[in-house]
Amino acid sequence: MKRGITFGTFDIFHYGHLRILERTRELCDWLAVGISSDELNFSKKGRNPYYSFEERARIVGALKCVDEVFKEESLERKAEYIKRFHADILVMGDDWTGKFDWVIPLTRCEVVYLPRTPVVSTTAIIERIRG
Ligand code: CTP
Repeated sequence: MKRGITFGTFDIFHYGHLRILERTRELCDWLAVGISSDELNFSKKGRNPYYSFEERARIVGALKCVDEVFKEESLERKAEYIKRFHADILVMGDDWTGKFDWVIPLTRCEVVYLPRTPVVSTTAIIERIRG
């Protein structure tokens, strides 16, 4: 059985989020998703998420392509999370290309960057609605 792992904030859940999770699950038989803590999201994006960690984790955890969700507290702890879940493959969108290759020698986990779904993003949704 191949075990997968991916990470993200998944705030204001949208089609691009669904597609990365579905495509990741096609590459593995079991999928854990690290949901950024509110604090980690603030440090990455300079704003608080619209939905709380608990709400974002409930939404992602309800998807049939997701087997487990957990809180990601720090980007630097990726190798620790990979080991905790015995992940064989780490998948991220290609906005992160190369950024997590450092886990490969530490974990022997395969790392794959998938193309982002064009156009849609949480930031674009917020800006569009703000008007
Ligand atoms: N993602 C994707 N396609 C999109 C948007 C996001 O494949 N159109 C992927 C990202 O590459 C990442 C995961 O979904 O692997 C979670 O991304 P996240 O940062 O939570 O979503 P964004 O919409 O990119 O958020 P923001 O606009 O706030 O940066």
